[in-house]
Amino acid sequence: MKTTSSVPLSRNEHLLRWVDKMAALCRPAAIHWVDGSQAEYEALCGQLVTAGTFTRLNQERWPGCYLARSDPGDVARVEDRTFICSHSREAAGPTNNWVNPYEMRRKLRELFSGCMAGRTMYVLPFSMGPVGSPMAQIGVELTDSPYVVVNMRIMARIGLPVFQEIDKKDRRVVPCLHSVGAPLAPGQADVAWPCNREKYIVHFPETREIWSYGSGYGGNALLGKKCFALRIASNMARDEGWMAEHMLILGVEDPRGEKTYVAAAFPSACGKTNFAMLIPPPPFQEKGWKVWTVGDDIAWIRPDAQGRLRAINPEAGFFGVAPGTSVRTNPNAMAALARNTIFTNVALTPEGGVWWEEMTPELPARLTDWQGKEWTPEIARATGAKAAHPNARFTAPASQCPTIDPAWEDPEGVPLSAIVFGGRRATTMPLVYQAFNWSSGVYMGATMGSEMTAAAAGTVGKVRRDPMAMLPFCGYHMGDYFRHWIGMQKRLTETPRIFHVNWFRKGPDGKFLWPGFGDNMRVLKWIVDRARGRALARETPIGWMPHYEDLDWTGMDFPREQFEALQHFDRALWRQEVIGHEELFLDLHSHLPKEMIYERELLICRM
Ligand code: OXD
Ligand code: MN
Repeated sequence: MKTTSSVPLSRNEHLLRWVDKMAALCRPAAIHWVDGSQAEYEALCGQLVTAGTFTRLNQERWPGCYLARSDPGDVARVEDRTFICSHSREAAGPTNNWVNPYEMRRKLRELFSGCMAGRTMYVLPFSMGPVGSPMAQIGVELTDSPYVVVNMRIMARIGLPVFQEIDKKDRRVVPCLHSVGAPLAPGQADVAWPCNREKYIVHFPETREIWSYGSGYGGNALLGKKCFALRIASNMARDEGWMAEHMLILGVEDPRGEKTYVAAAFPSACGKTNFAMLIPPPPFQEKGWKVWTVGDDIAWIRPDAQGRLRAINPEAGFFGVAPGTSVRTNPNAMAALARNTIFTNVALTPEGGVWWEEMTPELPARLTDWQGKEWTPEIARATGAKAAHPNARFTAPASQCPTIDPAWEDPEGVPLSAIVFGGRRATTMPLVYQAFNWSSGVYMGATMGSEMTAAAAGTVGKVRRDPMAMLPFCGYHMGDYFRHWIGMQKRLTETPRIFHVNWFRKGPDGKFLWPGFGDNMRVLKWIVDRARGRALARETPIGWMPHYEDLDWTGMDFPREQFEALQHFDRALWRQEVIGHEELFLDLHSHLPKEMIYERELLICRM
């Protein structure tokens, strides 16, 4: 059958040829060039409502909002189906799944052959970073999922201005091919969430290509996010002397009105979105402290002409985990998602609103759960059924966040003064400490870990090393990635200060020692003051730590002994910790920069 096409919106010959070639492979019924307009967005949302993918929410309470329910087998990123197909296994390193690129290309050609039959292929241009920013990068995603198009419109800059950018500058574009892998035979009825049991999320780092098959969900399908902005971009960054990191960016305004920008890397489920949108305790607010949000997940960081690191958030929206988000834990996120938001796999209220676990202190009497089944507190108690899937998401425009930083779209990025690493650790790791210098900071990030949660039986408390929170996202050998970090210092006249935080340390009674949330401002203030050279600290074997007096306790009655317990450096536990570092280093041995070995030796000597 012949493919029909809307008018191509680009004159770029490479792009036109590639679209033709991929259409010949995937054989869609139609091609739609995405202009990114509001009218197009609304038409696609309407189409998704008709298809049963979307439910339009009560527009009075949730203006511009929709609920999507995915297939129960397509609810999260699939790390075991994610591949880095570099020319050699060695280049991908032991922490990535590697398949020979020739073999993988053969497999992909098979999978994609005719995979879009009966569907429309959308030609979706997107800019990661503000259009025209010297730090931005462009991709074009060919996808047969209208769900992807509407989500990408929130998460990235898309449409005509991006096509114009491609045509004007003849810029290199990262080709991204995506299919849900569910071709339709003539007359075959579609399902609400088409996908395929077989999933392949494939990256070719040398040719800078992404091929994604079988999933319509999140990071598997919105290819600008994890696939491009981290896995492919980490390769670009290494080659071009910049950094693509799994980091939030925030700006701290102090009582003098000066702003200090901080980037922070935490593994998933450690509260990155909450930290990015932190609201200081009232006494801090009264003094004039305020936290501004630049991004909640990804930072692209580059030295400027003066040798200072500057960062942009390459995304335009938040793809946040809904469960646990509430007016108590993150009022800014709740305001951001109050309109023009796409919810996926949350529960539906009888009034046409949404709900998820911990959204309100009281449980609603009746809901439709994320799979479309009846849910009541009684059913939940009896069966353990969750109203929302634990990985249910909101896709919300960043511009709607009340604390969005006025400079969040500055094409030059914001200047970075501090980098923070953190994980979920019940023991060992103090609330906060500062690395001695850049290389000990790189060591700190390289060896960071997080405890696995109670969900996985038998593994509670087991620390998974997640270097710089990039374990699932670094698109090349992790040892080379550490080397790149070390090497960045040579390009800088001023290095940001590096810190480690842990909001999750527990006492002998198993209770958290630190309240977290807004009170994290006390730690953030110390970090900012250290970065600006106006706070004291004491030297310890692992780094600089605040004395009790160095934190601002205004409005909080926090016992000195509890602070000492939080900061306690336990020699026996650190012995175990360093043995854990060595396990990671053994895996990466052939590519590990010598600075990591020296830093480890120094740490052992100091201990
Ligand atoms: C995310 C993740 O979705 O890290 O941001 O998984
Ligand atoms: Mn993330």
